[in-house]
Amino acid sequence: MRILVLGGTLFLGRHVVDAALERGHEVTLFNRGQTRPDLFPDIEKLRGDRDGDLGALAGRDFDAVVDTSGRVPRLVSETLDALGAIGHYTFVSTISVYADLSTPPTESSPLAELQEPTEVWEEAYGELKVLCENIVRERFPDAFVPRPGLIVGPWDPTGRFTYWPTRFAAGGRVLAPLPPETDTQVIDARDLAAWIVRAAEGQLGGTYNAVGPVTTREHVLETCCSVAGTDAELVWVDPDFLHAQGVEEWMELPLWLHDAKYRGMLSADPSPALAAGLRTRPLEETVRDTLAWTQSGDAPTEFPAGLDREKEQAVLDTWQRSVDSPA
Ligand SMILES: NC(=O)c1ccc[n+]([C@@H]2O[C@H](COP(=O)([O-])OP(=O)(O)OC[C@H]3O[C@@H](n4cnc5c(N)ncnc54)[C@H](OP(=O)(O)O)[C@@H]3O)[C@@H](O)[C@H]2O)c1
Repeated sequence: MRILVLGGTLFLGRHVVDAALERGHEVTLFNRGQTRPDLFPDIEKLRGDRDGDLGALAGRDFDAVVDTSGRVPRLVSETLDALGAIGHYTFVSTISVYADLSTPPTESSPLAELQEPTEVWEEAYGELKVLCENIVRERFPDAFVPRPGLIVGPWDPTGRFTYWPTRFAAGGRVLAPLPPETDTQVIDARDLAAWIVRAAEGQLGGTYNAVGPVTTREHVLETCCSVAGTDAELVWVDPDFLHAQGVEEWMELPLWLHDAKYRGMLSADPSPALAAGLRTRPLEETVRDTLAWTQSGDAPTEFPAGLDREKEQAVLDTWQRSVDSPA
């Protein structure tokens, strides 16, 4: 198949390209050439900008398009206007489209509605993705629309999962937020990418929460610990204590979502996606490969997400004192 990837060089998109090439497809990329322009030297690269410079796409036909970079409705619409005949369309959305994530969303849960017009996607990420999805479905009623939860694995630029394998690899006392049995869920970017390519091959349509199995925080952290194989020692700390110490959820302490608003975000039922062909690899493999990537020299040395080591140890010292001599 001739597959166009809109994006393709940062994280999920590059895994889509890898998966498509592995399965013998002919891949074309469209992007600005700012993110890793030398990646994939042997495939066709169309240069342009989704905002105002779509000439390179004009009238081009493809058997399948995979949009990993669409976040702004106008740009999604203009890209669709520019393209020629397309056989199958995938739009990568997000689990953040749901109006209420305090309980696990299903594919038919109510969607978030944009309150104030904006094109700044960070201001209304889920709401804008809802509008993007709708634009895609208007033109391609049989579009494939995966709504991923937390995407993890090698090349993740955020550190929102990578923090844990690397933290355990460093050893010593590791701060973990209670309670251990909290639902936790990730999707390996490579599993999602392979599903996207198979969806194009099989003309799969429909909207799915693209999530892996629900497990516990303890299982994820214990897996990171055993894969790292160090002397790391998990220290479970009370969430109220962490808040009082100024530790923030999610971006500072990854995988920690204590806020009632987000309690269902890492607990979505993966059965519809699994029934539609998603295959997920064992967590051990994701952890091992993520750790190997961070040790390969290809990964950044710092990520946007993650708890500073000195702060972690200071919080643990204070926690230990409060446990030893309760007030
Ligand atoms: N990470 C998560 O946990 C998570 C969870 C749920 C959903 N998602 C969704 O999954 C997708 C993740 O995508 P990714 O960033 O990993 O995809 P990617 O396709 O690997 O990287 C983004 C690509 O978009 C290109 N790009 C950016 N701005 C552009 C523009 N104005 N015009 C043309 N190309 C442009 C970039 O290249 P240039 O910079 O060279 O242009 C880059 O190739 C997103 O849609 C996100 O909303 C992510």
